[in-house]
Amino acid sequence: MAAIRVARTFTGKKKVIKMGGAYHGWSDQLVYSLHIPYTKRFEAHGIPEESVANTTECAPGDINSLRKVLEENEKDGGTACVIMEPFGPESGTRMMPFEYCAQARELCDEFDTLLIFDEVVTAFRIGPGGAAGFFGVKPDLTVLGKIVSGGFPMAGGVGGREDIMSCMAAGVQSGKQRAYVGGTLTANPLSCAAGYYAIKEIVEQDAARKAGENADKLCAGLQSLIDKYDLPFVVWNTASIIHFEVSGVMYLSVRDPEIINKISERKKSMEEFGAALTANGVITLAGSRIYTSMADNDETLAETLTAFEEVFSNVEK
Ligand SMILES: Cc1ncc(COP(=O)(O)O)c(C=O)c1O
Repeated sequence: MAAIRVARTFTGKKKVIKMGGAYHGWSDQLVYSLHIPYTKRFEAHGIPEESVANTTECAPGDINSLRKVLEENEKDGGTACVIMEPFGPESGTRMMPFEYCAQARELCDEFDTLLIFDEVVTAFRIGPGGAAGFFGVKPDLTVLGKIVSGGFPMAGGVGGREDIMSCMAAGVQSGKQRAYVGGTLTANPLSCAAGYYAIKEIVEQDAARKAGENADKLCAGLQSLIDKYDLPFVVWNTASIIHFEVSGVMYLSVRDPEIINKISERKKSMEEFGAALTANGVITLAGSRIYTSMADNDETLAETLTAFEEVFSNVEK
């Protein structure tokens, strides 16, 4: 919310482009085409239509689609920002070509649009430089969350180019155009301290690399189990983010006339899979994702694989 408000203040433009299927928090303007591209307001209950009047989407990983939406938006005042997860929507569930971020950077410059990286998940998992460092692409603004306060509540942050960030203001300002950003818990000293020390430890202890190695091991173990039980599941990892697809629900297409039935059917199987894992002591993200940490070890990885094996061995084919 803050990054978009700042981008609009700085550029004087209204339109926002997100990738279809991406999640960037639950603000009115961004509950749009969640999970599956082009589903638009499918999940926007309780949100007036006007709230997403300036939200547009492009096809994930398709640079020509981004260009097309940028061009269309030009007819209506232009695009304030393109917001994206650098590894693709939903922590990289939808993978993108390696060169996508660099190409998006070039397009944003061409259209005088700000590039916002949502690194809420990736910042402290990919490495100290986040996904921006990995891809060697500098966004105008970066959004952080979750690990940014080391597990402490009230996690969120936005940073970037000084001239853009200087548009952000809390309290009374006069003379300049300012993006109003604030709230009771903004700049909460405890969260700030938690964040400072969490990031310090993450860097000093090389946490991203260790967490990533744990994910590599877990992913290899899961692949062996999938092979052993001959299941039509897919597993892969990007650093400490492990994806496992048991129903491919997010890969459905709105062009499929059966989509409504398939969404509920496949969502159910994913949720049941997640519930079965929870019953066996492993909490996943909705039965489709696991995030490892540096605190994992051979014992926790073995326990996790035992739980998966219990569930896999009971799958009816
Ligand atoms: C990529 C991404 N952006 C934004 C958010 C929203 O973060 P918060 O729940 O702290 O608003 C999430 C949360 O899952 C996320 O994964």
